Amino acid sequence: MLVLPKGVRHMPAYLSRTVQEELVDEVRRIVQQAPLFVPAMPRTGKEMSVRMTNCGPLGWVTDKEHGYRYQPAHPLTGAPWPPIPDALLDLWREVSGYPHPPEACLINFYTADAKMGLHQDRDETDFSAPVVSVSLGDDCLFRVGQTTRDGATKSFRLQSGDVVVLGGEGRLCFHGVDRIYPSTSALLKNGGRINLTLRRVTKPAVTAS
Ligand code: SIN
Ligand code: FE2
Repeated sequence: MLVLPKGVRHMPAYLSRTVQEELVDEVRRIVQQAPLFVPAMPRTGKEMSVRMTNCGPLGWVTDKEHGYRYQPAHPLTGAPWPPIPDALLDLWREVSGYPHPPEACLINFYTADAKMGLHQDRDETDFSAPVVSVSLGDDCLFRVGQTTRDGATKSFRLQSGDVVVLGGEGRLCFHGVDRIYPSTSALLKNGGRINLTLRRVTKPAVTAS
């Protein structure tokens, strides 16, 4: 059995085929309102191979001029991001162990040759909430490491319906997508992979108890 770093959970086949299909329909509706954009690396402006959009009160964006950040509006249309679908809010309640809702859902589209370099998710101000990530469509080779870039890494395959949680000591583990395995799923008509990443961005306001 593959032993993952503490706080990193892989839940294979967590979502039923029906829920996966519902999510794909939701993503299509979101993309109609909030078109996919091409993310670019800070400073160099090098384009990433994935295409992105978001739903939720905040969305993660990146470009040459302003770098990685969260913002309430789409970078091209200026419109607020569409809301996070209920099925994803339900998933967050089930697996996050965190008492407040996620604020951002990043939607990544991978074509057959897209990948994502090893990185940490660290643009949030609240690391006490986990990152919850959903895979839809074609399989990918996912890599997860330690909380330092040079730490040992492990790779495993993610399939449609799998959920990965990076929480607790694993919240800041490096991770990335080495490759897509084309034509391994029939969920998306035109192939490819969708990843949905739910995150809490801000610390919740302290309320009197
Ligand atoms: C990400 O870390 O933003 C994406 C991870 C994935 O595609 O599984
Ligand atoms: Fe990430």
